[in-house]
Amino acid sequence: MFNTPFLDIPPLSHAGGEVTLPGSKSISNRVLLLAALCQGRTTVHDLLDSDDTRVMLQALRHLGCDISGGEPGRPLGITGLGGQLPVSEGDLFLGNAGTAMRPLTAALGLLSALHGGRFTVRGIPRMHERPIGDLTDALVALGCPVAYTGQPGYPPLQIGHGQPAPLALDQPIRVRGDVSSQFLTALLLALPLVASQGPAGGIVIEVIGELISKPYIDITLNLLQRFGVHVERDNWQRFTIPAHSRYTSPGDIHVEGDASSASYFMALGAISTGVDGQNGITIRGVGGDSIQGDIRFAQAAEQMGAVVETGPNWLRVGRGTWPLRAITLDCNHIPDAAMTLAIMALYAQGTTTLTNIASWRVKETDRIAAMACELRKLGATVQEAPDWIAITPPATPADWRPASIHTYDDHRVAMCFSLAAFNPAQLPVRIEDPKCVAKTFPDYFETLFGVATAQAAHIPVICIDGPTASGKGTLAAEVAQALGYHVLDSGALYRLVGLAARQANLSTHADDLARPQHAERVAQLARLMDVRFEGGRVWLHGQEVSDTLREEWAGMAASRVSALPEVRQALLQLQHNFRQLPGLVADGRDMGTVVFPDAALKVFLTASARQRAERRYQQLIDRGEKVIIQDLLRALEQRDEQDKTRQHAPLKPAQDALQLDNSEQTIEQSVALVLGWWRSKQPF
Ligand code: DC
Repeated sequence: MFNTPFLDIPPLSHAGGEVTLPGSKSISNRVLLLAALCQGRTTVHDLLDSDDTRVMLQALRHLGCDISGGEPGRPLGITGLGGQLPVSEGDLFLGNAGTAMRPLTAALGLLSALHGGRFTVRGIPRMHERPIGDLTDALVALGCPVAYTGQPGYPPLQIGHGQPAPLALDQPIRVRGDVSSQFLTALLLALPLVASQGPAGGIVIEVIGELISKPYIDITLNLLQRFGVHVERDNWQRFTIPAHSRYTSPGDIHVEGDASSASYFMALGAISTGVDGQNGITIRGVGGDSIQGDIRFAQAAEQMGAVVETGPNWLRVGRGTWPLRAITLDCNHIPDAAMTLAIMALYAQGTTTLTNIASWRVKETDRIAAMACELRKLGATVQEAPDWIAITPPATPADWRPASIHTYDDHRVAMCFSLAAFNPAQLPVRIEDPKCVAKTFPDYFETLFGVATAQAAHIPVICIDGPTASGKGTLAAEVAQALGYHVLDSGALYRLVGLAARQANLSTHADDLARPQHAERVAQLARLMDVRFEGGRVWLHGQEVSDTLREEWAGMAASRVSALPEVRQALLQLQHNFRQLPGLVADGRDMGTVVFPDAALKVFLTASARQRAERRYQQLIDRGEKVIIQDLLRALEQRDEQDKTRQHAPLKPAQDALQLDNSEQTIEQSVALVLGWWRSKQPF
């Protein structure tokens, strides 16, 4: 996950390959609640692991459900409460998860009325701005003790007062359906708890007003069926829960991939040209047989020009008509995925109008306002109304603007705007607070960068060089972390060559290396090295060698083999391969002169030899080693001299490098300075 203040996405050129989607949020949280309410144990496969499911699980644990497993790639087991309430009090924090807040409110309302519980439910500040009044009205009319502890109509809520309360189940329960379909979902999921106490004809729910987002109700009804409850539906207006209804665990249940998340990759297929002659993106985890309404985004994408193929549990989307066709579409059936259409509109000819989307205004943020504001930043012309939005793309490539996209703590804003990086003006796009995607798709950007490509020249590189012990490695790692970029520790590559030579019983003595044949054998080893860097650790031919590489002899061997032009040449391609999305910080000799001469920022550290000796001295003392600072200083000065005067790749700043004397600076100060230089070079 990108846990950085912002993520700069370079202009993207192509996309192709295959993605596997994380589990659907809507299905995951419904399944969790149903498994918690029924009797017995349910094993849930492919559950989404995200902020919204985590708050749900935390709440269910608090209520006394026995939950185990669920580590990455493993199923989760949950033992339901079977209609009981073993824990009768609690303060439940539900983040910004509407799919947890609404159904839990209804379930706890009924359980508290039955057994005498007392709970508070609350969330982040935005959750306290998202309406829940229609649901609480229905619950109160039923006899559930539910009260607002903050602003009327909004969470936080107090549910139950510690005593059982009588329920009025004889009359139809009336709930509004035109603000959020989650109110109806909440009642449908919870009322089977009391089905046996209702009238013989079953408990009836009547929807007031036109029901929105009907496909989400379909998901609810479908999953209820999987848990043994067969709700009768009458025209989206009347729902009857039969009197004999009883939740029964299906035993095992599989969560489909998230169809709303699929929309970003469908759009990607529609707007990009393929890689290696292959057109399109294959999406796994969700397919034509999906129970999720957002799967119908595929038809909307087709209308705009995408070529879509579907199968069981897979989709394949490629570019068809180009530019895309502008459309006018009632998006009530795909409210979440429709945001992706608003981005596809940037690549269409004409004005795209998305109507019947009033629910956007009460989601994670006011999505109509948010989309309008951010699309305009890119140069689009946008009209907004209470329940529709119309988007006209920038007229020519020159009308596109480099934009820093504010994301409003809304995962979907962050995800859909990443696709603006395919703009014809080849401008980068900045996504602020990229970690907000954790709500439903923590690895979204990694998945995107796994299938999208950029021209190498567009992938930014920052080079950091300087004399030995100047702190360039630390500085490079910190700068990379702040930007979410990859790191190339080129010194490690030369150390690896030294190690590979040792493993192959090839001498790295200067005299031996002076023989061209011997030098060529070392270079051949360098060419064949299979190396992997991950999380600060290094592997050579599948074996971890991180600690060995840091040993003194490895540095000395590196110093000698790195003086060979054959070895430097042999490592060139390997180093270029590190230039990957979204960017690279490369540290070491000749990064800015030979390997990445086009790097956008080159920094040369110039700490004094005395200062560097003192730092190294401190490091070694801390490690418990006995050293004399004068010896260190002398060794450093010698190494500097050797490095500066050697024939190949001598230590010297690139012509266009910015010099940074960090003798008197803390690492934080140096990082801030470099990031400042970097920011000043960005177009945002
Ligand atoms: O930064 P370091 O101590 O890990 O580097 C080991 C040796 O490799 C050092 O003598 C410099 C040399 N080197 C090089 O010649 N070119 C690079 N790009 C990086 C390191």
